[in-house]
Amino acid sequence: MEPKIKHSSPVVPPGGRKEMIRIRDLHKRFGDNHVLKGFSLTLHEGESLVVMGKSGSGKSVMIKCLVGLMEPDEGSVEVLGKEISTLGQSELDELRSDIGFLFQGSALYDSMTVRENLEFPMRRHAQKLGLGKDTLPFVLEALENVGLAHAIDLMPVELSGGMKRRVALARALILKPKLIFYDEPTSGLDPITSKEIIELMRSIQRKYGTSSLIITHDVDCARVISERILLLVEGINYAEGTYLELSGSSDPKIEAFFKK
Ligand SMILES: Nc1ncnc2c1ncn2[C@@H]1O[C@H](COP(=O)(O)OP(=O)(O)OP(=O)(O)O)[C@@H](O)[C@H]1O
Ligand SMILES: [Mg+2]
Repeated sequence: MEPKIKHSSPVVPPGGRKEMIRIRDLHKRFGDNHVLKGFSLTLHEGESLVVMGKSGSGKSVMIKCLVGLMEPDEGSVEVLGKEISTLGQSELDELRSDIGFLFQGSALYDSMTVRENLEFPMRRHAQKLGLGKDTLPFVLEALENVGLAHAIDLMPVELSGGMKRRVALARALILKPKLIFYDEPTSGLDPITSKEIIELMRSIQRKYGTSSLIITHDVDCARVISERILLLVEGINYAEGTYLELSGSSDPKIEAFFKK
């Protein structure tokens, strides 16, 4: 039986679930390099959506447009019901307090301890959160979620790659965001550590019911974590479906993603 794969059209919300992210017809160019050519995506509440695309296809560019770090040339990017391009700096900051972002490669501040790295987003959003000075309980809870409470006073240089990734995950979670964006959460990690990170992502998903957008090359990660996978090919959302639907496809452009 041919899999039910949708080509180049966003999925209709199942049962009218709330849309946490809505990208429509996104274009982004850098000079002659037309990276995104009409990309669309919908993320529903509580969902785990994986975006796969080869290196240089524009996955990080797309995520940067989502958090307002890059401006689209054309198209609409709505996050939690707000059109990003219409937001001023303070509104953008407020929106970002609802978003956890695990950057490609962890991106911890090397001159700060683990505790200070985790306190950083809390300080930025302290006013909104109404927090007093004592950030320790929040830092500890976030570190306990990733099994690293004992590393609270270490510097990033003292951590292994897997530990850094976990600290970055704890930092992305510390504000209990409604949305988490993961950019290559398992890249550069060995298979066992990758599995641990994927398990952590799953347990966080279950515990907090966060909606997740996961960018990955890692087929195992996509299989385990995704409810739905969207393939970014040549600047558009080429196909979307479940892991089983897509991995059984005989379309060569789709097959290429699932070959080991
Ligand atoms: N600030 C920028 N200025 C110019 N070109 C850029 C900029 N950011 C990204 N690009 C280009 O946009 C394209 C997509 O880059 P992007 O980082 O989104 O790729 P990616 O899909 O995330 O790849 P990877 O899997 O390697 O992380 C690349 O050709 C890159 O050179
Ligand atoms: Mg990238």
